[in-house]
Amino acid sequence: MGDLLTINASRLLCRLDELSRLGATPEGGVSRLALSNEDKLGRDQVVAWMKEIGLEVHIDRVGNLLGFRPGQTRQAPVLFGSHLDSVRAGGRYDGAYGVLAALEVLQTLQESGLRTRRPLLMAVFTNEEGARYAPDMQGSLAFVGDLPVNEALAATGFDGSNFGAELQRIGYAGDFPCASIRPHACLELHIEQGPVLEKEGIRIGAVEAITGISWQEVTLKGVANHAGTTPMDLRHDAGFVAACIVARLRHLAAELGPAQRATCGMISFRPNVINVIPAEVTLTLDLRNPDEGLLRQAEERLREFIERAAAEEGVTVTSRQLAYVSPARCDPRLVAVIEAVAADLHLSCRRMVSGAGHDAQILARHFPTAMIFIPSRGGISHSPAEYSSPEDLAAGANVLLQAVVRLAQ
Ligand code: HGY
Ligand code: MN
Ligand code: MN
Repeated sequence: MGDLLTINASRLLCRLDELSRLGATPEGGVSRLALSNEDKLGRDQVVAWMKEIGLEVHIDRVGNLLGFRPGQTRQAPVLFGSHLDSVRAGGRYDGAYGVLAALEVLQTLQESGLRTRRPLLMAVFTNEEGARYAPDMQGSLAFVGDLPVNEALAATGFDGSNFGAELQRIGYAGDFPCASIRPHACLELHIEQGPVLEKEGIRIGAVEAITGISWQEVTLKGVANHAGTTPMDLRHDAGFVAACIVARLRHLAAELGPAQRATCGMISFRPNVINVIPAEVTLTLDLRNPDEGLLRQAEERLREFIERAAAEEGVTVTSRQLAYVSPARCDPRLVAVIEAVAADLHLSCRRMVSGAGHDAQILARHFPTAMIFIPSRGGISHSPAEYSSPEDLAAGANVLLQAVVRLAQ
């Protein structure tokens, strides 16, 4: 039965359009920061759809949305889903696609009458992006029990808000316990967010590993002074040290090989005035490598560089780790299922490593997990220009459908 099933592509695309209107930005993307009003709008809409198709919906203590579909047995469920929160000025597909494809798979199964042996569990994880509250992937970390609920609720956002209070405010402080479900297998369907599949003309990515991520926040304290009267050799310029650090990131990545990534995404000067040598600068550092040893090396080399640069300028440094997520390997058996399904559907497929972080890498620590990728136009993501074609969106959802049926039978 599972072989004859196909998802309803136009329904999936319509829902993607509808969801993209919630938190829509003028440039054609979305901004749905975790626990914001826009995130609430997205959550409300998806919960309504989940109930409409007959799922038993629960909200857990960190706001993860859980939609259950009973199986013929009460064995451990097959879990699949993604996230609804976005980065600021993000794209329409990152996360949202995997959530709506999961919904579409479940509605297709409801309409078919196929009752899988195992129960099915659709999951929408809170704050995957970490764009407002660090660490990223807070929802899936709490779901697997790697982040105590109270620690998540106590998190303070970059905007000074409190995670628990915001969760309460948007009405998603659920009571379903975290760390209470042990899925049989987990799948996440996601846009690739990179250039590989498009460049090689391949339809489906079977992800076999997901990169590790290290996030630091560095605060440099110098001496505010007059931009005109202070001779260059008498300055303690926090802005100069910050600029050296940002420039160093590019060279550090080159030293550590093609898989290394290094990004400064946020920087703020105080007092941030044109004619004042900055007293203080705060910047964030995002380091990534699928090889844990190289990731740790990148952290160490950067720390040494920062200490030296600050000491030479007479600037003090304080830094705090905002997140550290180890690289993850996907379960080879699930990767093989994805490849076999792609072959059955006559879709070209290749194994690959994800340069983006995903909830799947948290799930993979505890449960057999794998990811399905579809191509991203121009490899662009975390941008309003993020785009995947209707054909690829439908193809990915059909691979998810068939992989779920195989794993749940
Ligand atoms: O940052 C990431 O890689 C993901 O989009 N959260
Ligand atoms: Mn994502
Ligand atoms: Mn993202």
